[in-house]
Amino acid sequence: MKIRKAVIPAGGLGTRFLPATKAIPKEMLPVVDTPTIQYIVEEAVKSGIEDIVIITGRTKRAIEDHFDKSAELEVRLDDAHKDAQLAQMEAISNLANMIYVRQKEPLGLGHAVMTAREVIGDEPFAVLLGDDVMTGEKPALAQLIEVFNEYDAPVVGVKAVPWTHTNKYGIIRAESAGEHLSRVEGLVEKPQPDKAPTNLAVMGRYVLTPEIFDILKETGKGVGGEIQLTDALDTLCTQRPMYAWELEGRRYDVGDKQGFLEATCEFALANPELKGPFARYLKQLVAQLEGEDIEQN
Ligand code: UTP
Repeated sequence: MKIRKAVIPAGGLGTRFLPATKAIPKEMLPVVDTPTIQYIVEEAVKSGIEDIVIITGRTKRAIEDHFDKSAELEVRLDDAHKDAQLAQMEAISNLANMIYVRQKEPLGLGHAVMTAREVIGDEPFAVLLGDDVMTGEKPALAQLIEVFNEYDAPVVGVKAVPWTHTNKYGIIRAESAGEHLSRVEGLVEKPQPDKAPTNLAVMGRYVLTPEIFDILKETGKGVGGEIQLTDALDTLCTQRPMYAWELEGRRYDVGDKQGFLEATCEFALANPELKGPFARYLKQLVAQLEGEDIEQN
């Protein structure tokens, strides 16, 4: 069955980015000139998704405005003959069929996915998290959809992380099923390194089947007092085969300040207009830093 719908949970509080996220959605923080959620929507569209369900909450209205048509702005750009910008604004509002569902309280990622149940109905669907921005030749979600099409089974995107970082991620227990592919035997949320079954961490890309909704309904609070998608997936993989695909491409953790800054620098260096002047600036900065004892900080 074709994967037509994707859920992008954006109802979280973004506490790692306070105070910026007190009134502005974390998902609207720009990497160079584009809100992070737009990179995620573009990845979904490039992967063949037609309907995008964004889970929002209080203080998240700017997301809807961003993907809506801005008639006044378009008239102004047209009058000023700013054709390239006009085309860019029109393209954003025509990216996909956008659907917004409010999560009344941020009770966790699992709860956010569950709020999409009515809109998704009885078909397989994708989930993409805005914290993980992926670049690379083939969109990350398209890689998972290929696996889903071959095995007709839920798939999670994973990447190997340093063992010392397992307590930041959902980690899979799995058996190899081929190059880049594993059969998932269980999942555990944020295990300490000495308790982690592998160092394969879930990277915010999933293709799920609708049984997950019934499981989520029965899933109690987990780590951090939140309803965790990881716990529901741990149950799902006991009911039907589930796979993990080691994603190709670079991943930026833009939900974290260090990851956000790395993405900003690297996206700026990949931008034809900024590359020259920004690289020159960075070189000067590095030369200045060379005298300093950075390891002490
Ligand atoms: P995170 O835990 O990374 O996001 O959830 P957060 O809670 O917004 O951020 P911090 O940790 O406080 O800084 C992963 C994704 O799940 C969404 C978030 O918006 C984020 O995209 N989420 C999380 C929800 O939609 N609802 C929730 O109740 C929790």
